[in-house]
Amino acid sequence: MRIVRTIHEIEYARSQWSGPVGLVPTMGYLHEGHLSLFQTARAENTTVVASIFVNPTQFGPNEDLERYPRNLERDLHMLEAAGVDMVFTPTASEMYPPGFTTYVEPQGSLVEQGEGASRPNHFRGVATVVLKLFQLIQPQRAYFGQKDAQQIAVITRMVRDLNLPVKLRVRPTVREADGLAMSSRNSYLDPATRAAAPILYQALQAGRQAFEAQPTSNPAAVMQAMAEIVAQEPQAHLDYAEVRDAETFLPLERLQAPRSSCSPSAWDQCA
Ligand code: PAF
Repeated sequence: MRIVRTIHEIEYARSQWSGPVGLVPTMGYLHEGHLSLFQTARAENTTVVASIFVNPTQFGPNEDLERYPRNLERDLHMLEAAGVDMVFTPTASEMYPPGFTTYVEPQGSLVEQGEGASRPNHFRGVATVVLKLFQLIQPQRAYFGQKDAQQIAVITRMVRDLNLPVKLRVRPTVREADGLAMSSRNSYLDPATRAAAPILYQALQAGRQAFEAQPTSNPAAVMQAMAEIVAQEPQAHLDYAEVRDAETFLPLERLQAPRSSCSPSAWDQCA
């Protein structure tokens, strides 16, 4: 496995690849959710590239950029074992040299709600770095986890809007035995909050049950079912529990099946 730190090196490596290239963009501190992306990428491409870059432009001024968990040595072992061919792990100044001024600015409902509402500029940072990685590595396929549903919608829109020649592949969320979605940030949880965290999964399950009981109903019943479960956990403070269109993130008036087999909620039918 080659470890590459500069844009110059990645450009040289790119000129030597033949056959399809799969890119798995990450911020490191890898877990089994990432491993499922590497596995799929390995099965589908001749060359698999992982990036590890804690992207400063997607963090707000009071967010966790400095303390975001990092363990490059452990990550490199995991990547090697997963059969990844190349790791691109640039510095912030390599990606954003002095004078950098050009950003991808997603607009509208997609970024005005959910994470976009509580984290201004987050999706601008994500879209910018993902476009730069697509430009540098020029993969035929790029792999993302379904856990970050709004991120997937933003990147899908960018790929469509800017006619980027890359196919997005989205893999299902990987969960701990008690339902908590795997995430690098789970390492922040102390034992008490870790014990409380699966309430989120229980709320999602309750939402699913409410939907299955009345698939054509008003989404309010689903949202209420989720909110009631979260309210049972004293350590949990609900930010939002909403039902949104998976592509536009607009509120839904009525529950409905995904518009097409290639909508973000049905990605695996979308090879
Ligand atoms: O999902 C992540 O880890 C990040 O948002 C990504 C896509 C690697 C961009 O920094």
